[in-house]
Amino acid sequence: MNGHGLLKGKNGVIFGALNEASLAWHIAEAVYREGGRFVLSNAPIVSRAGTLEGLAERTESSIIWADATNSGQISELFSEVRDSFGSIDFIVHSIGMGMNVRKNKDYDELQYEWFHKTLDISAMSLHRIVRAAMDLDMINRGGSIVTLTYLGAQRTFSKYSEMGDAKALLESIVRSLGYRLGKKGIRINSISQSPTATTAGHGIEGFDSMFEFARQISPLGNADSDSCADYIVTLLSDLTRMVTMQNLYHDGGFSTMGISDELIETLQEALTTAS
Ligand SMILES: NC(=O)c1ccc[n+]([C@@H]2O[C@H](COP(=O)([O-])OP(=O)(O)OC[C@H]3O[C@@H](n4cnc5c(N)ncnc54)[C@H](O)[C@@H]3O)[C@@H](O)[C@H]2O)c1
Repeated sequence: MNGHGLLKGKNGVIFGALNEASLAWHIAEAVYREGGRFVLSNAPIVSRAGTLEGLAERTESSIIWADATNSGQISELFSEVRDSFGSIDFIVHSIGMGMNVRKNKDYDELQYEWFHKTLDISAMSLHRIVRAAMDLDMINRGGSIVTLTYLGAQRTFSKYSEMGDAKALLESIVRSLGYRLGKKGIRINSISQSPTATTAGHGIEGFDSMFEFARQISPLGNADSDSCADYIVTLLSDLTRMVTMQNLYHDGGFSTMGISDELIETLQEALTTAS
């Protein structure tokens, strides 16, 4: 797709690009295509993988490594960003990790230190990041902040486990910050994305079944990473300047569906085979 210059003149920070599958990777490419300029950030441990440099080169961006659970590193990041951009117009928070999920601990056996870490990485990090930028008063009026979430915040997806709680907290932080940011003319929204084949996505047990279930009932099918990135471009642009404190579904219609003909047929076939 050709760019339309929707983000020309805008600068920001994009957190969470890990590899080519990452939502943030696609977001970075789409923001660059639309004329936006940014710093990429991820946890220092990711620097070992050496994957981000190619994206940084292609998008003429620099990388600042910072752990989103470390207030000092996040403050330092924004000081550096201020040195290069002065002020910024957008932040993309695309960070998530379920510690118990990763270590195959079921919800009824949560290890609480890991649970705390999950909430810290996946939800509190949004507050920490926004706070560090606001402390330096470096987000311009008209600025836009976007984070990624999932319907597991509202509904129980059995294998999504602690991540449902983390996303519920994340979406609540969006509302709480949104009120305060609004007074400074800054907006913040969460995007509730379809299951997408990324490193974090595959970390959820039963991901393939969740993906296929969503595909079979979503009228438009599952939303892919590129369409997610395009949607986020609109939210970072001035076209959506009056949208804030919203949880916006980007899921091909999944969140409004109950069951579809396709899923009924699939289940009927399975029942016939079983009988
Ligand atoms: N993939 C899906 O199905 C799906 C659906 C809805 C929402 N989301 C959300 O989208 C966001 C991005 O995930 P993704 O699917 O692109 O997977 P991903 O694994 O590519 O991205 C997750 C990112 O979080 C980063 N991260 C983890 N701990 C960190 C820390 N302490 N400090 C800084 N960064 C840290 C990882 O390094 C990684 O880059 C997450 O919030 C995820 O929950 C994903």
